[in-house]
Amino acid sequence: MKVLLVGNGGREHAIARALVRTSTPEQPVSLVVQAGNPALEQLGRSLTMDPLDPKDVVRRATSEKVDLVVVGPEAPLVAGVADAVLDYGIPVFGPTKDAARLEASKSFAKQIMADAGVATARSFTCTTMEQVEAAFDVLGAPYVVKDDALAAGKGVVVTTDRAQASSHARSCLSRDGGAVVIEDYLDGPEVSLFCFADGATVVPLQPAQDFKRVGDGNEGPNTGGMGAYSPLLWLPEEATQRIVDEVAQPVITEMARRGTPFRGVLYCGLAMTSKGIRVVEFNVRFGDPETQVVLERLDSPLAPILYAAATGTLAKVPAPVWSEDAAVTVVMASGGYPGRTDIGHPITGIEAAEALAGVHVIHAGTSEEITDALVNSGGRVLDVVARAATLDEARALAYRGVGLIHFDGEHHRSDIATWPADLAVTLD
Ligand code: GLY
Repeated sequence: MKVLLVGNGGREHAIARALVRTSTPEQPVSLVVQAGNPALEQLGRSLTMDPLDPKDVVRRATSEKVDLVVVGPEAPLVAGVADAVLDYGIPVFGPTKDAARLEASKSFAKQIMADAGVATARSFTCTTMEQVEAAFDVLGAPYVVKDDALAAGKGVVVTTDRAQASSHARSCLSRDGGAVVIEDYLDGPEVSLFCFADGATVVPLQPAQDFKRVGDGNEGPNTGGMGAYSPLLWLPEEATQRIVDEVAQPVITEMARRGTPFRGVLYCGLAMTSKGIRVVEFNVRFGDPETQVVLERLDSPLAPILYAAATGTLAKVPAPVWSEDAAVTVVMASGGYPGRTDIGHPITGIEAAEALAGVHVIHAGTSEEITDALVNSGGRVLDVVARAATLDEARALAYRGVGLIHFDGEHHRSDIATWPADLAVTLD
């Protein structure tokens, strides 16, 4: 199967690695990838393309005669890349623009959940500061303020500081047509569960947990994610099926009922609250860096299941097979991240890290174009991924890998894949 993969960050490097790693002689996979990530480029034929230009993606897909287009990031989906590719009769893994509204509009996602009977935080959609302040009065602290529109990971502020909450809301509203969703704070540990969907059938992957704040102990500002692990030993076994039954399936059924079937991966961001499972957010693509650990645990071919999701045949393909192994990833970030980042520093030690059995390094923000050497070129730079028999071993191995890699200004969390000893989740 020839696959065109759109996007060139860490998530796409992890997807490409999984496609190649799980390729078999009976079902070989060849990849065409988007140029710009030196490690991703090693895994297939690389082409420059504008991922936000549907026509450009269609041009690449048709000239390369691919069997499947896989769209990694949300922005091309919201720009209508899947719609354009489908118009040319090429299967695409990733929802149409209408279905991508589940991520592109927080208020739309709330409406779908209300119509589908899915439990989420109480919320108010506001278009004026008067409405925002009234919502703060009703819901109280901590204040959860979400930009209604896509904001490249910078849309959500959770704070007990009302002035900071108001200021974020004001800046979201200052854009033409700006709106914010103010919602109740959901307590309880968060879980990311990705579900393949083909418009009707839902197939869950393995749960993972992301570490969103920049500093140890969940201190500091939100980031795109500083590390992740899977499996979640503290999560009751039946949680996955409960999430499918109570969240993913009702949403997929509701999207089909509305005439906008969802095909691709539905990322369910959930809080395991004392009152039960509650949805924090939906995304319409794989999470980053959770994908790096979830796909690392996949022991069956990835390409056929992505193709099945794209073509409405998920019910006919075997369920994915998961390793009992644990996987941990630690993100190494540039100085200044998640603020203004300090880039252009040579990176050393990747080969030494990858020489450790069970370790590989995903490139999220590296470049060989600024100088001839490999340098950091983004906020999140590398994801050191380790797979081992237990979480303790995988965590130790990932940090051994991190210790071998260096670039000026680098920082990472030192508590990835740890959780409070008294963490206990019961499903009502
Ligand atoms: N790890 C969070 C996200 O992918 O949105």
